[in-house]
Amino acid sequence: MPHRAPGAPQKSRADYLSGRPIRYYRPRGSADIRQLIEDGFQAFNAARIGEACRIFTDKMLLPEHDTTIGLTVAGALTPAGLGGCMVELMERGLVDFIISTGANLYHDLHYALNFTLHRGSPFVNDVELYEEGVIRIYDVLFPATVLLETDAYIRDFLVRWGANGPVSTAELHYALGRDLLERQPGCAEYSVVAAAAAFGVPLYTSSPGDSSIGMNIAFHELMNESRLMVDPNKDVNEVCAFILAGKKNGCVILGGGSPKNFYLQGQPTLWEVYGIPKGGNDYFIQLTTDQVVWGGLSGATPAEAVSWGKVNPGVLPDTVVAYCDSTIAFPLFCEYVVGSPNGRRARKELVHKRDDLVAALKREARAAKRDHPAPEEATDTMPDLERHR
Ligand SMILES: NC(=O)c1ccc[n+]([C@@H]2O[C@H](COP(=O)([O-])OP(=O)(O)OC[C@H]3O[C@@H](n4cnc5c(N)ncnc54)[C@H](O)[C@@H]3O)[C@@H](O)[C@H]2O)c1
Repeated sequence: MPHRAPGAPQKSRADYLSGRPIRYYRPRGSADIRQLIEDGFQAFNAARIGEACRIFTDKMLLPEHDTTIGLTVAGALTPAGLGGCMVELMERGLVDFIISTGANLYHDLHYALNFTLHRGSPFVNDVELYEEGVIRIYDVLFPATVLLETDAYIRDFLVRWGANGPVSTAELHYALGRDLLERQPGCAEYSVVAAAAAFGVPLYTSSPGDSSIGMNIAFHELMNESRLMVDPNKDVNEVCAFILAGKKNGCVILGGGSPKNFYLQGQPTLWEVYGIPKGGNDYFIQLTTDQVVWGGLSGATPAEAVSWGKVNPGVLPDTVVAYCDSTIAFPLFCEYVVGSPNGRRARKELVHKRDDLVAALKREARAAKRDHPAPEEATDTMPDLERHR
């Protein structure tokens, strides 16, 4: 490990943490930003952001469409202060469920617990940071003790909660959010996890073991002999059930990563696995820096998703990808949306409807199986494999 020569200047922990606190920014529907997007964003990715705003407000939020809207979140957005945009959309009933990386939910807990993350620079000496006990997420800086104290809170919560069997991540995050609301009154204003519980928005994570929340659940099993188990099957069926129940379905995808696929796989789960032809997603908005040329899912276009039955082939005009850092594009998008005439809807509160909707999925899947048995079970008729188109 490189070492500082004796006597060489060194910044102190206080210097690194002297930047302004990062606060969750709540969009207010600025008329100036709406005008900028309408009149100033005329070409290239600026125009794609404008298109995304109009698809969302004029189509997805049209009351008669009653679109069930999923938001997927990857990239370090809560550390960058974008949780306030998510809170605002949830409070206004503009997103019905969220699929996020665990990291975004874990780092949201720092805000809920009133720990401070600071604005800083990406051009710093990381060895000095390490020696000073300062953690860096690009240009966001905070003391390592924030991690340790957040982890301790999660472990205490798991003991208090006492759940001892398989749960979906929506159940886990709902219980976590209720605990925060009780212990940190008012924190729904500045915590995604708490706001989701307060507003009935189910929060999923597609890779539950891959974050500090998952790491502390693993501790709970090993050290407390808990049988609490995050069951991804529950998540798959709950998300699939929401999509089945949706009159229309649409998504806003921030970044890419596994949350993007976890949302989009809902349609193939219906037609490919359960034999229920829903017809594909109706609206698709992605704000991302990912490129299509590398062949990965994160950069895959809505057109490619058509071939999988993820996106309805008839609705490609209602899909858009804006290639932009989502820390820039998402707050602009939210200002536009919040200021639009359709900028508030009744909340669906799907977190309380999970069991009923999964039961409906099961009934419909059983009926589909009866009407169209799988090839090996078929007696005299073959299933119509083309029907999903
Ligand atoms: N302490 C923790 O809990 C912790 C910390 C960091 C990451 N993780 C885990 O690591 C995994 C990866 O997380 P990740 O969020 O860094 O995902 P990632 O780096 O895989 O990024 C996901 C996608 O979003 C895109 N993206 C990222 N930032 C973007 C931006 N600003 N604008 C537009 N697009 C952007 C990326 O190109 C990528 O396709 C997750 O499972 C997460 O939970 C955990």
